[in-house]
Amino acid sequence: MTAPIAIIGTGLAGLSAAQALHAAGQRIQLFDKSRGSGGRMASKRSDAGALDLGAQYFTARDRRFVEVVQHWQIRGWVAEWSPCLYHFSDGRLSASPDEQVRWVGTPRMSAITRALLGALPVTFSCRITEVFRGPQHWHLQDAEGASHGPFSHVLIATPAPQASTLLAAAPKLAGAAASVPMDPTWAVALAFDQPLNTPVEGCFVQDSPLDWLARNRSKPGRETHLDTWVLHATSAWSRDHLDLSKEAVTEQLYGAFAELIGCAVPQAAFSVAHRWLYARPTSAHQWGALADADLGLYACGDWCLSGRVEGAWLSGQEAARKLLEHLQ
Ligand code: FAD
Ligand code: NAI
Repeated sequence: MTAPIAIIGTGLAGLSAAQALHAAGQRIQLFDKSRGSGGRMASKRSDAGALDLGAQYFTARDRRFVEVVQHWQIRGWVAEWSPCLYHFSDGRLSASPDEQVRWVGTPRMSAITRALLGALPVTFSCRITEVFRGPQHWHLQDAEGASHGPFSHVLIATPAPQASTLLAAAPKLAGAAASVPMDPTWAVALAFDQPLNTPVEGCFVQDSPLDWLARNRSKPGRETHLDTWVLHATSAWSRDHLDLSKEAVTEQLYGAFAELIGCAVPQAAFSVAHRWLYARPTSAHQWGALADADLGLYACGDWCLSGRVEGAWLSGQEAARKLLEHLQ
């Protein structure tokens, strides 16, 4: 029996590739440093229900992604979210409705990757630190010093800065990944005992430490007795306050929120802060996926395309396509 294919990362890109390879009859083995799948589409379980601290919603513009999202909808993994949208700039909050279709996982964002993972073989809480080649096959070394393998191919589906280290055996690919800086995002969730007296359910923000805010509870399937909100800081603010304590970040972003939302904001009954170190690539690329087919090393992720959920899925498909093409 041939050795399986290793996939490092169970965000949407890794799982998109995993599904395509599995459907083509390949054996795969997934690894993730986290305790569960989803990466930047993960949701945090809390006393205020599940909170989408990373990706807030996604749009589908590419025909292939539109089709797959329709399948996800039929299976109940996603639903349309049509928030009462606002826009804040020059110190003013204004309604900003549009016709854009926006999707969210149901009942939480992480439901999508959870469903895609299904029963595929995965090792969680396993940070891969090195990808190295033996005489015939690939092997992985983890942060505990254990090694995993043999594998016929390795597909790296992590953010670019982490991918560049793991791609050391293919210096050209490592260089490409290293050329993609990724900006951080501080995220804060707040929960209030009583609903805030505002119609706002989503708001694009300018001229503030905040970049975006959403009423988490307004998304389909989010059952909670509390009024839950998610606030995202801008990349610039997040970079300037990278090492601030979670308490101080919560206080400052709560202050910015209270200033712009246009209604009384009481003390939050519950709050949580999360720092995404590699939240978004500073620019988009048209790479699809990176490949050294002769070596058997591949890399994919949102950073190879648009830096969005759609880009992550498409990049995973492209990595799988390139790998399968080389097998024929
Ligand atoms: P990731 O989701 O980052 O997955 C990579 C995985 O690799 C992770 O699970 C990680 O744990 C794992 N990993 C990393 N290093 C290792 C290692 N050494 N060993 C093992 N495992 C490892 N996109 C939108 O379209 N709409 C939005 O509204 C939106 N909002 C966002 C808001 C925030 C705050 C953030 C952070 C992102 C947002 N995005 C949004 C972007 C979207 O979340 C990403 O484009 C997408 O989820 C990226 O998927 P991925 O699989 O490429 O990477
Ligand atoms: P989209 O089409 O809803 O938004 C794209 C951009 O258009 C928005 O950022 C906003 O500036 C503007 N916009 C859209 N509708 C608007 C409206 N009604 N009123 C005012 N401005 C409007 O979604 P798309 O293209 O799928 O983008 C995904 C979103 O994810 C973007 O908002 C992006 O900023 C966000 N994102 C955030 C990350 C983070 O780390 N915080 C990482 C990656 C994406």
